[in-house]
Amino acid sequence: MSKIRTAVVGLNMGLDHAYAYKLAERSELRWVVDLDEEKAKKVAADLGCNYTTDWTTILDDIDAVSLCTPHHLHAPQSLTAIAAGKHVLLEKPLANSEEDCLNVIQAAEQNNVTLMLAFVVRFLPAIRKLKEAVDSGKYGKPISAQGWVEAFLTPAPGTWFSSKEKLGGGALFSHGCHYIDILLYLLGEPARVSHFGTRVGTDWMEGEGTSHGIIEFKSGALAHLVTSWGMRYKKTPARFQIHMTEGMLELDNSMWKVEAISKEGTETLYERPAEYPARRGQNVLFEIEHFLESIATGQRPETDGHEILKSHRTIWAMYNSQGTPVNL
Ligand SMILES: NC(=O)c1ccc[n+]([C@@H]2O[C@H](COP(=O)([O-])OP(=O)(O)OC[C@H]3O[C@@H](n4cnc5c(N)ncnc54)[C@H](O)[C@@H]3O)[C@@H](O)[C@H]2O)c1
Repeated sequence: MSKIRTAVVGLNMGLDHAYAYKLAERSELRWVVDLDEEKAKKVAADLGCNYTTDWTTILDDIDAVSLCTPHHLHAPQSLTAIAAGKHVLLEKPLANSEEDCLNVIQAAEQNNVTLMLAFVVRFLPAIRKLKEAVDSGKYGKPISAQGWVEAFLTPAPGTWFSSKEKLGGGALFSHGCHYIDILLYLLGEPARVSHFGTRVGTDWMEGEGTSHGIIEFKSGALAHLVTSWGMRYKKTPARFQIHMTEGMLELDNSMWKVEAISKEGTETLYERPAEYPARRGQNVLFEIEHFLESIATGQRPETDGHEILKSHRTIWAMYNSQGTPVNL
């Protein structure tokens, strides 16, 4: 099959997409696009491709596009690309409302194009190993999972990501969505949720900058996820621990190492191999290769709209949950 002609729109997170397309054998990176012409020009020079500030003018020259733009643009830009018959790899989230999500999913199905959500964490080899270990039965059944996503964002009032409407919520929707997806991937269907968010420490954001969410799964297992953009001082602990009836699985903060503790002691189940060097685009390359393969084979991408809508719906249910006031 001839190479898939690709383009990337939005060159902050999208830079990693551009580098990954450059690395991927199935892709010919044709264009990089940003409203900031100087930025686009520099990236194009570094990667040996074309650049423009108006992505709608290049649609005839590409087969597939990564949209790596602010959240409120995801639905309208996806609909434009899909209507032109282009395959779309859309950065998370799918869209800021359920109605927009369903419109994009329906448009992709009607136009027979591949729509994949860029849930980069799902495709990391350590996460695949964690899933294999949970599903193996060797460590028994999941009881309780904890995840910590601790970051500090320089206060940026007035930007799209300080706006609750443009971001689609707060840190949980924007960043935590990766990890809610991972919890569903590992532990199955959720049954009930609850959530608290705070703006303390991130008052430049309209939505919550720090989130504590709890999920009860249909299996009876529980999960607790902390997501924050306000943790300036941190001694970041393990990203994930999954306590099982016969062991404990741990994903370290680099997202490249998985350990298991059981009656057999501590085993390293996965560690970064030399074949995956720390280079720009490497983390994103796993999802990009899945996207290109889905286009080439016509198979449904693992993180298609329907799959990702499940984790968005879980977050929206969390946002709608209300705690019980305490009277002392
Ligand atoms: N997977 C991850 O871990 C991860 C990390 C960061 C961001 N993201 C996602 O990537 C997307 C972008 O986030 P960001 O942090 O890069 O945002 P950003 O605001 O830092 O950068 C967006 C870029 O897109 C450009 N842009 C905006 N509108 C455009 C348009 N119409 N045409 C061309 N260029 C346009 C801007 O000039 C800017 O350079 C979001 O969906 C975000 O959630 C994902």
